[in-house]
Amino acid sequence: MKKQQLRSSCKKCSNGPFVGCAAALVVVLLFSMASTATSCTEGEKGSVLQFLDGLSSDGGLAASWRRNSTDCCVWEGIACGADGSVTDVSLASKGLEGRVSPSLGNLAGLLRVNLSDNSLSGGLPLELVSSDSIVVLDVSFNRLGGDMQELPSSTPARPLQVLNISSNLFTGGFPSTWKVMNNLVALNASNNSFTGQIPSHFCSSSSLLAVVELCYNQFTGSIPPGLGNCSMLRVLKAGHNNLRGTLPNELFDASLLEYLSLPDNDLNGELDGVQIIKLRNLANLNLGGNNFSGKIPDSIGQLRKLEELHLDHNNMSGELPSALSNCTNLITVDLKSNHFNGELTKVNFSSLLNLKNLDLLYNNFTGTIPESIYSCRKLVALRISGNNLHGQLSPRIASLRSLTFLSLGFNNFTNITNTLWILKNCRNLTSLLIGGTNFKGESMPEDEIVDGFQNLQVLSIAGSSLSGNIPFWLSKLTKLEMLLLQDNQLSGPIPGWIRNLNLLFHLDISNNDITGEIPTALMEMPMLNSDKVAPRLDPRAFELPVYATPSRQYRITSAFPKVLNLGNNNFTGMIPEEIGQLNSLVILNFSSNSLSGEIPQQLCNLINLRVLDLSSNRLTGMIPSALKNLHFLSAFNVSHNDLEGQIPDGVQLSTFPDSSFEGNPKLCRHILHRSCDSTEGPSEGPVPSGGQFSTFQISGFEGNNKLCGAMLIHKCGSTEAPPATIMSTKQTYYKTAFAIAFSAFFGVGVLYDQIVLSRYFG
Ligand SMILES: *[C@@H]1O[C@H](CO)[C@@H](O)[C@H](O)[C@H]1NC(C)=O
Ligand SMILES: *[C@@H]1O[C@H](CO)[C@@H](O)[C@H](O)[C@H]1NC(C)=O
Ligand SMILES: *[C@@H]1O[C@H](CO)[C@@H](O)[C@H](O)[C@H]1NC(C)=O
Ligand SMILES: *[C@@H]1O[C@H](CO)[C@@H](O)[C@H](O)[C@H]1NC(C)=O
Ligand SMILES: *[C@@H]1O[C@H](CO)[C@@H](O)[C@H](O)[C@H]1NC(C)=O
Ligand SMILES: *[C@@H]1O[C@H](CO)[C@@H](O)[C@H](O)[C@H]1NC(C)=O
Ligand SMILES: *[C@@H]1O[C@H](CO)[C@@H](O)[C@H](O)[C@H]1NC(C)=O
Ligand SMILES: *[C@@H]1O[C@H](CO)[C@@H](O)[C@H](O)[C@H]1NC(C)=O
Ligand SMILES: *[C@@H]1O[C@H](CO)[C@@H](O)[C@H](O)[C@H]1NC(C)=O
Ligand SMILES: *[C@@H]1O[C@H](CO)[C@@H](O)[C@H](O)[C@H]1NC(C)=O
Ligand SMILES: *[C@@H]1O[C@H](CO)[C@@H](O)[C@H](O)[C@H]1NC(C)=O
Ligand SMILES: *[C@@H]1O[C@H](CO)[C@@H](O)[C@H](O)[C@H]1NC(C)=O
Repeated sequence: MKKQQLRSSCKKCSNGPFVGCAAALVVVLLFSMASTATSCTEGEKGSVLQFLDGLSSDGGLAASWRRNSTDCCVWEGIACGADGSVTDVSLASKGLEGRVSPSLGNLAGLLRVNLSDNSLSGGLPLELVSSDSIVVLDVSFNRLGGDMQELPSSTPARPLQVLNISSNLFTGGFPSTWKVMNNLVALNASNNSFTGQIPSHFCSSSSLLAVVELCYNQFTGSIPPGLGNCSMLRVLKAGHNNLRGTLPNELFDASLLEYLSLPDNDLNGELDGVQIIKLRNLANLNLGGNNFSGKIPDSIGQLRKLEELHLDHNNMSGELPSALSNCTNLITVDLKSNHFNGELTKVNFSSLLNLKNLDLLYNNFTGTIPESIYSCRKLVALRISGNNLHGQLSPRIASLRSLTFLSLGFNNFTNITNTLWILKNCRNLTSLLIGGTNFKGESMPEDEIVDGFQNLQVLSIAGSSLSGNIPFWLSKLTKLEMLLLQDNQLSGPIPGWIRNLNLLFHLDISNNDITGEIPTALMEMPMLNSDKVAPRLDPRAFELPVYATPSRQYRITSAFPKVLNLGNNNFTGMIPEEIGQLNSLVILNFSSNSLSGEIPQQLCNLINLRVLDLSSNRLTGMIPSALKNLHFLSAFNVSHNDLEGQIPDGVQLSTFPDSSFEGNPKLCRHILHRSCDSTEGPSEGPVPSGGQFSTFQISGFEGNNKLCGAMLIHKCGSTEAPPATIMSTKQTYYKTAFAIAFSAFFGVGVLYDQIVLSRYFG
């Protein structure tokens, strides 16, 4: 730690009033008629006004004060005690900008300062932190920054009880001299850029500290054993830092702990069954996103108050202890992404009558779904996908009347007919994800008797190699927003009733054997059609976040892009001109079908389009030059068709690599706009950020600069033969490189999404 300089200016003018009695008397005399309470002194008023001077923007505060009486005690946000001294400065959410004046430290009777949720910048004056009087100091949600200063070594015990400096830009370590704050009860320093060890020196001097929140900083090192001295500690949150090492045994001496939350650090070791049960009041244990290993200790059953158990994203293994069923207050159990194994039936879930969320995604559980789970009548979300469970679903699941989220995918369940028959009775189900390695080789039940599911918003039965048609019963799911049927062997046409699914905005039926023409009914889907008044989607969050990649999660359906993916089927005929109506669409994929005719001009109406893939069809004619108006396009592919003419100039299309166009022998390209040593990447232009595209990597195109000499598409006017006929080894290499670069581009964004979505669509 760097040696701090003591500030000479921080001597406090603690007591003596600035102003003479006379002036005060005048004020009192003047306003004793107007105000029954005692007025503030001129000195105190001066200090309050000095605070105003520090602001660059006061959100109308000065005007409000000026309009009001000259007694600062009645001013907006100011309160005084019986003796007329200012006790409260409550100016949260007032739109204040500028600096926090140290003058507030002159208010000798000041008890509470709340400047939360403004845009204050600069440092936090030590005069406030080390005030003789202030008990509550809340400057959270501002833009205050800089390092915290040390206190003079002679500073006596301070009265501060609540210090909230969270959600600012503070840096550096916590000064050790702050241990003189031995009245501190709550410290919230979350969401800053603090570094160094997490502070524990408060614990040696203060026996009162009950709440310590340090999440979202850059604290390093191990968890200091000294925290165990905080005998009143009830809440310890230090998630999202860079903490390492094991949980020190001393930590478990803080036996009043109710909330122990350390997610997303680099902690390791095993949960010590002897230590953990010392925390008999523990209600919330969150160690997710670390590197803990070993088993859940049997003794966990003694934590009778436990309500939330988050051990997700660790390296834990072993069977679940049957004693878990003694934790009868459990509401949430999140064990996803570990290596837990064994039979779930080891646990008697019947006693967990408060259980609402059970998330076991990506473990190695075997056997069947335990019948006892169906006794958890409050269960809202159940995710057991990505395990090795088998068997058929029990009709008893229909007794889970609150169940809204069910994810069973990527197990070895059988009998989809039975599954759907049973689940249709779960009336409150909104998200159902059941495909992926389940029901292998079975056929899609088509009987009309599958009715129900009236609240379903998301249905994924992808990746199960199901045969049969797109079943009619889907037409009754009027609340459906997302339908994922990709990677099956469904055949027959797209039924016309699809247009009646008023809320459907994400349709993926790629990698099936669907035949017929692309129906114009698809072009009438209201959600993809911004000219129609789009119905409102249900804004409710998923009960469990849905993973598109291991690190990318979706919390609401509307965060997913608007998608029409018909890729890799057997569609024939022309692309209907009505396609121009789908002007809300973000991703359009018709690739790998047998579509013929020209690319319709109307595509240029799809101004929100980011991905357009028409590759591997039998399209003819020219590429419509109007396509260059698709300004958001970040992926474009018309390769392997029979297009002709020249690739339209213009910023948008010309930035795509040759691989977007290759395999069209009659297509030619103007001289490339970039040269080999250009640093400009070809994927310049608006790369969308956030959501679907947040993991797109420009690197998918990087290195293409090196390939610019390899003309896979011949230049317009050149007599060079199409590359398909003469391709040197080198060109083959480049072609492969292109393909890799290209698929890497999609790989991280879209294609990956398709595959991984079904893989991770937990
Ligand atoms: C003056 O202050 C009092 C007390 O805060 C408040 O009720 C009143 O609305 C204020 N008047 C003006 C004109 O701001
Ligand atoms: C400060 O004010 C905000 C907004 O009114 C409030 O939420 C917060 O609890 C207050 N802080 C303290 C310590 O009371
Ligand atoms: C700041 O933290 C204190 C203590 O935890 C709390 O009472 C107060 O409500 C917090 N302020 C805000 C704005 O949340
Ligand atoms: C602590 O600060 C964080 C971030 O500002 C906030 O989310 C949290 O609610 C605060 N805790 C308390 C108890 O106020
Ligand atoms: C962190 O602070 C920033 C800026 O005040 C705020 O926008 C953000 O919501 C905070 N994050 C959390 C998790 O509280
Ligand atoms: C995960 O835990 C196993 C023991 O269960 C251990 O052998 C392995 O090294 C751990 N892996 C990591 C990355 O810590
Ligand atoms: C599941 O168990 C198998 C065999 O015991 C092992 O190979 C595999 O790595 C395990 N998977 C996980 C996610 O732990
Ligand atoms: C499971 O617990 C329930 C109630 O807690 C009890 O009635 C039942 O007998 C238990 N089942 C087994 C197999 O122990
Ligand atoms: C099921 O949903 C309906 C309406 O959406 C609601 O009134 C009812 O309380 C829900 N049932 C349960 C058990 O949550
Ligand atoms: C799935 O279950 C079937 C029988 O129900 C079995 O033959 C098959 O080996 C299982 N597959 C896996 C991957 O466990
Ligand atoms: C599948 O479930 C249906 C309906 O419950 C049942 O009639 C049928 O026998 C089951 N098929 C198999 C192979 O278990
Ligand atoms: C379009 O769908 C096909 C077939 O599923 C797939 O191979 C291709 O990568 C998809 N294109 C994009 C841009 O995702």
